[in-house]
Amino acid sequence: MPQEMYSGFFAEFYDILHAGLTDVDSYLEFARRFGPDILELGCGTGRILIPLARAGFRITGIDCSDHMIARCQAKLSLEDESVRSRVNIVRQDVTGFELENRFNLIIAPCNMLNHFPDHKVLIAMLRCVKRHLRPQGVFILDNSIPDIPYMVDVNRVERIAVFEHPLTGTKLVHRFTATYDFVSQLEHTAVHLEEYDDTDKLLRKAAYSTTMTYHFPRELRAMLEAAGLEVFHEQGSLHEDCPIGPGSTEMVFFAR
Ligand SMILES: C[S@@+](CC[C@H](N)C(=O)[O-])C[C@H]1O[C@@H](n2cnc3c(N)ncnc32)[C@H](O)[C@@H]1O
Repeated sequence: MPQEMYSGFFAEFYDILHAGLTDVDSYLEFARRFGPDILELGCGTGRILIPLARAGFRITGIDCSDHMIARCQAKLSLEDESVRSRVNIVRQDVTGFELENRFNLIIAPCNMLNHFPDHKVLIAMLRCVKRHLRPQGVFILDNSIPDIPYMVDVNRVERIAVFEHPLTGTKLVHRFTATYDFVSQLEHTAVHLEEYDDTDKLLRKAAYSTTMTYHFPRELRAMLEAAGLEVFHEQGSLHEDCPIGPGSTEMVFFAR
C-alpha cells in the first residue's frame, strides 16, 4: 500500500469521502450480538471504532498509517474519558499482527481485504485473525461484490466527484481513474485531489496511484477455509439477512 493513499490530504479527506456510508449501525448490531471485546483491522480514522466505543464496547484498532491513526486520536481526544478508556489503538501491519489480547469479535469492514492482492498474504492475515479469536469468537468481513458490467464501463475512464469541505467550505475535487486487469483481478487506480477557494484558486493538491484487488464470494469462502476459519453465516447485504445472490452488491461473511 503506498503511504500517500492514507496520508496527508488523503487522510484528512477520508471521512468526507466516506460520510455517506451506512455501515456503522450494522457494526453496532454485530457488536451487540458478538461483543464486547472487539478488534478492528484497519481502523483508520475511527469512523466505526469510535461509535462502537461510545456504545460501551471495548475496542482495539490496528492500522499502519500514522496519519489515519493521528486523525483517529484527534477525534478520540474530543470524547469523554469513559469512551477513550475503552479504546486501544495499535500501529501494526495487519498481515502479521501479534497482540496479547484475544477477542470475541474481529471485524474487517469497508473492503479491507482488497488491500492484499497476494492471496498468500491475505491467508496469512486470516490465520492471525484465527489466532486472536477467543473460543466461539466471530470474525466478520464485508466486501463489495465486483460489478463487472460497471467495471467494464468505467475502465480507464476518469470519474470526478466534487465535495464541499465541511469545516472550511472549500471545494474539493476528487478525480479517480481505475484500470482493471480482469485476468489477474487487479484494480490499478490513479487518484488526484485538489482543493479550491471560492475564487477557484488552487490551494492544495495531492496524488497517488495504487493497486488493489477485488474478490468474488467463492474465493473469500475458500480463503477463509484455507486459514482454518469456518463460515457459519453469510449475507448479501450489511443491512439485511438475505442470501448472497445475483442481485447482491455486498458480501458479509461470519466465520469462527
Ligand atoms: C478503507 S480504510 C478503512 C478504515 C475504517 N475501517 C473505516 O471503515 O472507515 C482501510 C484502512 O486500512 C489500513 N491498512 C491498509 N493496509 C494495512 C495493513 N497492511 N496494515 C494495517 N493497516 C492497513 C489503512 O491505513 C486504512 O486506514
